[in-house]
Amino acid sequence: MASLTVRKLDEALKASLRLRAARAGRSVEDEVRMILREAAETEAPAKALPGPARNTPAQLHRTRTHSATELPRVTLIIGGGIAAYKALDLIRRLKERGIHVRCVMTRAAQQFVTPLTAGALADERCYTDLFDAQSEFDAGHIRLARDTDLIIVAPATADLMAKMAQGQADDLATAILLATNRPVLVAPAMNPLMWANAATKRNVAQLARDGVSFIGPNSGEMAEANEAGVGRMSEPTEIAVAAEAMLRPPQTGPLAGKKILITAGPTHEPIDPVRYIANRSSGKQGFAIAASAAETGAEVTLISGPVDLDDPAGVRVIRVESARDMLAQVERALPVDIAIFAAAVADWRVANAGAQKIKKTAGGMPQLALVENPDILATISKLKQNRPQLVIGFAAETQNLIENATSKLKRKGCDWIVANDVSPASGVMGGDRNTVHVLTLDKSDIAVDSWPVMTKEEVADALVAKIAETIA
Ligand code: C5P
Repeated sequence: MASLTVRKLDEALKASLRLRAARAGRSVEDEVRMILREAAETEAPAKALPGPARNTPAQLHRTRTHSATELPRVTLIIGGGIAAYKALDLIRRLKERGIHVRCVMTRAAQQFVTPLTAGALADERCYTDLFDAQSEFDAGHIRLARDTDLIIVAPATADLMAKMAQGQADDLATAILLATNRPVLVAPAMNPLMWANAATKRNVAQLARDGVSFIGPNSGEMAEANEAGVGRMSEPTEIAVAAEAMLRPPQTGPLAGKKILITAGPTHEPIDPVRYIANRSSGKQGFAIAASAAETGAEVTLISGPVDLDDPAGVRVIRVESARDMLAQVERALPVDIAIFAAAVADWRVANAGAQKIKKTAGGMPQLALVENPDILATISKLKQNRPQLVIGFAAETQNLIENATSKLKRKGCDWIVANDVSPASGVMGGDRNTVHVLTLDKSDIAVDSWPVMTKEEVADALVAKIAETIA
């Protein structure tokens, strides 16, 4: 049988082959094989497909890859932990939801389950090596990183998360994670002491800041005898449900197809590694708006400062610390149709936060110099390119509410301001109820819509309904 060296083809043909292969989710070599096979079948179908046609490997492969291109695609990175066996069940749970799965295994994962089993369950070969002779020609890890709609890491070991947090790329799994621009869902699994370790906590916080989504870990018994605690990988069905929510946001509802960005919570501005400046915002109003917007079918990204609230269902949550982190993530999330800035962003930060804990000295008190933080709402409102169609700010005031909110609307350049009284007597900060006035700018006229006292969920529903009326 003649062999073919793909490298000898001219550049234009190679480029078009690469494109074809990426679209079909195949390596270039497989794509060439497919083209040759199809050509042979067209010439002599009887010879090319001998025997019972439905059972030939050629036909099975073609049928599978053809339908696979139409399904949402997940790349499942299986890390090396005892929970790797559950990743095999996850493949099935994803497939029964009509999701195409391609598996990648770390070297450690192969100590627990085999690539053969994962490949058989996924109906596609399982990838394991960064320098793979079979797909060496087509920059395999870049293709694997991009030719997917979602990457799931399950089980995500402490070691794998540490590598991700540091941006290491010394094997196929980490190279894919570094090269991807697709959403990443991580299902950690480890011993409770490893999960509680400060280093793991730092890595998880860093990954969350980088926009990685998490599911679990759950609490329960460990594989190790007599050990229990938080660290069990989420059940395959839970991971599959979370993946489906990320892959298929509801397509019905008044804001279906719209992208909404929401900021929420306070920001923490470091003084030194252990101290920070913060405020009393609970994040409840912003989280309620995110939940309500997701229910109307919008694709919602919630960028939140440190709060003690669970992720709302169907919302992509990115957790940040400081105002500058928040601005960076907001800019990364653009373009969006609607942006709602409900965060209580710190106006100032410490000019030169200490890298070490500031010590109490006999010599007197440390002097903290403050500098102004970027105004995220004003920055986005004044964008020349990528400005959302509707930009909404909040004005938390303790006096002259409407007057201050009106001047804020003009100064910041947004379209609406939701003004609320946050004087201690109102109980709004940290509380469950809110009394708001919505100021809307129409050309140069400002209309004020004053709503009665409501729960924060009711305010969220009313605001989202008003947005839907305006945008529709
Ligand atoms: O100026 P003030 O903080 O009162 O403005 C409140 C509005 O501006 C809110 O919508 C808040 O989220 C937004 N803001 C911001 N970035 C800042 C300060 C406020 O996005 N640095």
